[in-house]
Amino acid sequence: MSILIICGRTPKETESYNWYMLKWQEALLKLDPSLDIRIWPEIGNPEDITFVLLWRHPHGVCEQFPNLRCIASMGAGVEHIMTDPNLPTHIPVVRIMDNTMGKQMVQYAVAATLFHIRLFDRWQESQRIAKWDKFPPFGLYKAQVGVMGLGYLGQQIAIALTQMGLPVSGWSNSKKSIDNVQSFAGKNEFELFLSQSDVLICMLPLTPETKGILNKNTFNLLPPNAYIINMGRGQHLIEQDLIDAIDSGQLSGACLDVFEEEPLPKQHPFWSQPKIKITPHIASVTSPTSVAPQILENYQRAQRGDDLINRANVTRGY
Ligand code: OXD
Repeated sequence: MSILIICGRTPKETESYNWYMLKWQEALLKLDPSLDIRIWPEIGNPEDITFVLLWRHPHGVCEQFPNLRCIASMGAGVEHIMTDPNLPTHIPVVRIMDNTMGKQMVQYAVAATLFHIRLFDRWQESQRIAKWDKFPPFGLYKAQVGVMGLGYLGQQIAIALTQMGLPVSGWSNSKKSIDNVQSFAGKNEFELFLSQSDVLICMLPLTPETKGILNKNTFNLLPPNAYIINMGRGQHLIEQDLIDAIDSGQLSGACLDVFEEEPLPKQHPFWSQPKIKITPHIASVTSPTSVAPQILENYQRAQRGDDLINRANVTRGY
């Protein structure tokens, strides 16, 4: 009975990859030194593997483990697992639900939103030319924030933004009841939701329905000068549509943590667009120490054949 840790990686990421794998191994062994942990591609006998812990794994690998009982994502997202065409679909998939990650996401969303609403780009520019630029407006005080996706993390973000005194609405598959957050649901209410979202935050899971949802039609339905914050997945965004909408002045800018291709290639046009802020997929980074207890819990449950915690819904895709 072994845990196998498998991550996909690009050659550029090898150094951080090795460091990160050791952190996972250390965190799990600290909780249970008797664990037999193997790191891809050193798998030993495939029959020993009962539990895999994955992040953007090479598709098809899970098929070779006849005794597999659980597939665990190293993050909150599971689309990197669900999109594996050779996924053994009878094996349960679990994901991370972690308070520390939730806090990181909240901090990122609040920081990106307030930076925009309190015009920090303007103050930075004034500072650069030593100008005491005390003329209104001092902030976009009427801006409304729309959070797409009100799951475990999206809800925390919406609540934190209301606590900043901002008007917040949310859009999800079904109506949600969250204090001070106006809830919109389903395709029918998407347009209305967008029409009042001066700041649009994407926290959706990536599914065939949400892929490419940040596109020119969506941007056309936002108020003029709207701002985009993408903390979901790069594939939610049609990148050229964003560039066009910013270049034409329709959107005021964007803050992006996730990209179609990661690491973002050196020659990508986003790097040189001053109205786009780029962070390297760090809105939240799973802390192995913080999540090791829930991984171990699921490992033990899987060995006993008990129900797993934080299960993803394979049909829904998240
Ligand atoms: C995640 C992520 O899914 O970091 O956890 O993107």
